[in-house]
Amino acid sequence: MAVQINPSILSADFARLAEEAKAVQGADWLHVDVMDNHFVPNLTLGVPVVESLARATDTPLDCHLMIEDPDRWAPQYVEAGASSVTFHVEAAAAPVRLAREIRAKGARASMALKPATPIEPFEDLLPELDMLLIMTVEPGFGGQAFLDIMLPKIRRTRELIGKHGLQLWLQVDGGVSASTIERCADAGADVFVAGSAVYGAKDPAEAVRALRAQAETATAKASWACGH
Ligand code: DX5
Ligand code: ZN
Repeated sequence: MAVQINPSILSADFARLAEEAKAVQGADWLHVDVMDNHFVPNLTLGVPVVESLARATDTPLDCHLMIEDPDRWAPQYVEAGASSVTFHVEAAAAPVRLAREIRAKGARASMALKPATPIEPFEDLLPELDMLLIMTVEPGFGGQAFLDIMLPKIRRTRELIGKHGLQLWLQVDGGVSASTIERCADAGADVFVAGSAVYGAKDPAEAVRALRAQAETATAKASWACGH
């Protein structure tokens, strides 16, 4: 699977979301961080904003739900126009049922792991998912430093994907920038969320191109991608 770059609008100007979406033309997805001030100590946006944003841009929306009770709310984000919906396994009561519901409604189903949540207990769930998100910061805020200690988890997850012959995408989110993206790609990530590294740049579209080029070069050299 080709490298994908998903700018996070958490670092964009919330009063100008439609323009900010256009500013990253060429991005594969727009990453939309939904926070409820319970699962994480921050509050962002909800279903009505996702609905409006979906109408305002052709770039598909990758909704990352950092909320309690995703079993109840996640399907509404599909109805609002999200093409991919990520719930946190730490918050989900019935992750398999929820992933199936998201898929049945027509979106890609994705599950996220906080830094302290291991991948191993979820090996058997992976075929139910279209993407796995490994958080490389504690969720809640943009602009945090990348946690290098997550690289082994990315590597082990890539091995599990290979072992089971899955098409699962492996997303990393948090502190992904020009100085960390190559390490992520080398470890096995193929979908890269970047907030401050894109929207903090003078030219966000150029930042997306540069990150993609770096990730592609690192992937071409990575042992896990050999023969792909
Ligand atoms: C953090 C969010 C991220 C955030 C990343 O909890 O899930 O998507 O926007 O921001 P950066 O790339 O600045 O770390
Ligand atoms: Zn996110």
